[in-house]
Amino acid sequence: MKIEQVLVLIKPDGIKKSLVGNILTKFSESKLIIVGSKMIKVDEKLAKAHYNHLKDKPFFNELINYIQGKVYGEPWNRILAFVYHGECAISKIREIAGATNPEDADPISIRGSYGRITTKGLYENVVHCSSDSIEAAREIKLWFNPEEVIEKLYPVKTVFIRNLKNTIWA
Ligand code: TYD
Repeated sequence: MKIEQVLVLIKPDGIKKSLVGNILTKFSESKLIIVGSKMIKVDEKLAKAHYNHLKDKPFFNELINYIQGKVYGEPWNRILAFVYHGECAISKIREIAGATNPEDADPISIRGSYGRITTKGLYENVVHCSSDSIEAAREIKLWFNPEEVIEKLYPVKTVFIRNLKNTIWA
């Protein structure tokens, strides 16, 4: 039994299109459990760290604007982040999300149902999900602090920052 965790983001287009309920209903078919959730306004630093592997792609700047919701402005410039946990979590979530390109995605999947390609060619594909367990660990540690996840997923350590006790990823 392969117990995994996966980062899921409902991107600003999913928020703007009022798809949060529909998306969570689709992911609930996985029978996985949510062990972390929060709403975030994504700043440029977080956006660039998340998509660092795509920094040389021609669509990188547009992608950074998109994940920050800059194209939509207030009150859509935010995302919902989740950590799903359970058996084969990554493949289950990725199947429900569908292929990266909404035109290639199974029409029953989230991206196939709700995604689009903009006139500039960017895939607005409504959700993000980690591609493998290494990326999942990197992304979950980037988006969540240890105390925001109710399951102990990765090792932690206690440190003192200006005499304040903090728990950070080890
Ligand atoms: P990527 O990490 O390759 O895919 P995934 O999100 O499925 O893990 O790409 C990140 C995002 O970049 C993707 O969700 C949408 C955008 N993108 C494009 O707009 N055009 C492209 O050709 C690719 C590969 C990605």
